[in-house]
Amino acid sequence: MEFITYEQDGFVGIITINRPKALNALNSQVLEELDATLDAVDLDATRALILTGAGDKSFVAGADIGEMSTLTKAEGEAFGKKGNDVFRKLETFPLPVIAAVNGFALGGGCEISMSCDIRICSDNAIFGQPEVGLGITPGFGGTQRLARLVGAGMAKQMIYTARNIKADEAYRIGLVNAVYPQDELMDAAKKMAAGIAMQAPIAVRNCKKAINDGLDVDMDQAIVIEEKLFGDCFETEDQRAGMGNFLEKDKEKKLKVVPFQNK
Ligand code: CAA
Repeated sequence: MEFITYEQDGFVGIITINRPKALNALNSQVLEELDATLDAVDLDATRALILTGAGDKSFVAGADIGEMSTLTKAEGEAFGKKGNDVFRKLETFPLPVIAAVNGFALGGGCEISMSCDIRICSDNAIFGQPEVGLGITPGFGGTQRLARLVGAGMAKQMIYTARNIKADEAYRIGLVNAVYPQDELMDAAKKMAAGIAMQAPIAVRNCKKAINDGLDVDMDQAIVIEEKLFGDCFETEDQRAGMGNFLEKDKEKKLKVVPFQNK
């Protein structure tokens, strides 16, 4: 891999987009390497992922403008699909993904962060969808996910005006969950990931699926999705240990660590 690094830290996998000369902009190769990195994650040994960018200036400064500048209509659509396919893989990945946004998150950078389950950022982070200033629409899910996260009115304002927003405003509108000094961001991300990794892995996985799938359908169907995933947790070792610990008044006892089970 030239532009992606992967580090395993206990149960937590850390994916770093590492193309600092272009502020970690996403060209085809970065997207392909990210896709391959996700495919290679050991689901038995990993319970949460962190996605970040190399350096202290930029998370991801967008899709690669040089690569896009000469595309035909058909090639533009194919490039959009390439990004969308990887981002959708991230969004539906069986494990929770925390975006640690350590600087610019513009265009495709904002979009990839929105494909993660949770966003936290450094105090120098800048978010935005500047595409209309380049003569294009957001193309890696921005028109869809921003509206779902911050509401259609705010999303339309940001996208139509191409105005970038700072970390404090991103926090105020609910685009990020928390803002940290730059040098504390990765520790905060690791602490959050470790907190997720301590929980029953099948239950966490099912929560992600229930929330994601439920948001795509009406409440009657959504609640059935929850029922099935709730039921799916029973008879697992984690459910027996978790409830057993409670009933034994042994709440300090950690859940028995069981391998992630694909069912
Ligand atoms: N694509 C390609 N290269 C990029 C890039 C991008 N999105 N963003 C930055 N770079 C490159 C610059 O060309 C520059 O390279 P050189 O040193 O070879 O000239 C290097 O990264 C450093 O960038 P700057 O010199 O511009 O750094 P700066 O501090 O002056 O400005 C910035 C930083 C404000 C982020 C500025 O780089 C910028 O505006 N970048 C583009 C942001 C953008 O428009 N992103 C959206 C892209 S479109 C998109 O993402 C479509 C989609 O939805 C799929």
